[in-house]
Amino acid sequence: MKQYHSIQIASNARVSDKAYTLSFKIPGLAKSADPGQFVHIRLSPGSNHPLLRRPFSINDIRGDKVEILYEVKGSGTELLSQISPKDTLDVIGPLGKGFDIDLRKRYHLLVAGGMGIAPMGFLGRRLKSLKLKHELLYGCRSSSELIPSDIKICSISSDDGSCGKKGLVTSLLPDKLESCQNPVVYACGPWPMLKAVARICQNKNIPCQVSLESFMACGVGACQGCVVRSSDGSYISVCDKGPVFDSRLIDWDQDCVV
Ligand SMILES: Cc1cc2nc3c(=O)[nH]c(=O)nc-3n(C[C@H](O)[C@H](O)[C@H](O)COP(=O)(O)OP(=O)(O)OC[C@H]3O[C@@H](n4cnc5c(N)ncnc54)[C@H](O)[C@@H]3O)c2cc1C
Ligand code: FES
Repeated sequence: MKQYHSIQIASNARVSDKAYTLSFKIPGLAKSADPGQFVHIRLSPGSNHPLLRRPFSINDIRGDKVEILYEVKGSGTELLSQISPKDTLDVIGPLGKGFDIDLRKRYHLLVAGGMGIAPMGFLGRRLKSLKLKHELLYGCRSSSELIPSDIKICSISSDDGSCGKKGLVTSLLPDKLESCQNPVVYACGPWPMLKAVARICQNKNIPCQVSLESFMACGVGACQGCVVRSSDGSYISVCDKGPVFDSRLIDWDQDCVV
């Protein structure tokens, strides 16, 4: 159920070169949210800049505290990084459709690239509470951007070789999938990474869910600002039909959305 909340910040702390975690208490949201859903935040209460809310995945929920993990990219996230505990923000959520956990699968592989790690903490915690075997395959640009994670990591890659194996996280995926039985893949990261993960899984006939990014305005399915082309040629809104989709539903030949 979508709800508006005026929330007080509990903490806003730097966790890597450009990334921060921000936490706040919303008991209702904490109880009703599912992994893969997001919150839409007005970053500047009392001012019109930036005009539009910004979407952030729910990174984790601990008790009645909700946490997001964000990277400073532009003016909105720069403002967010300056927010102090006790400041208030205007949040809508939980929004969208999250990961559909398949209880019949024996192995749940989480694949994250860069800030695609953001929804994985919450997903990992949910899989753990369901006693489902899960691991994380995690790729980043460099060790300075590596975000600490509670999830058991099976392999790490980095673009510059400063941690884990040098190269793209997708290069580790085929071998990993060969070594596990009856897997399902949940992926979040940049479009080219998701496209490669979707192709690898499709070739091996392994189910795969992807969390997509798109520019958003309303966040609730009203403006069509966030649509992507689906494999049947129709357009679907990422904010309310997603952000998590079965990878076979997406037309991966369209230009990168974000
Ligand atoms: C469903 C969803 C969940 C998201 N979850 C997270 C998250 O958990 N953590 C996180 O750090 N980011 C997340 N994002 C991306 C985040 O919303 C953008 O990085 C943010 O809106 C940038 O705002 P800004 O004002 O700082 O940047 P802007 O000044 O608006 O833009 C700066 C740069 O960021 C790029 N950018 C803007 N919007 C997006 C976007 N939606 N996706 C990717 N790049 C964008 C622009 O192309 C530009 O290069 C999510 C996006 C979506 C759609
Ligand atoms: S952001 Fe308006 S329909 Fe998705």
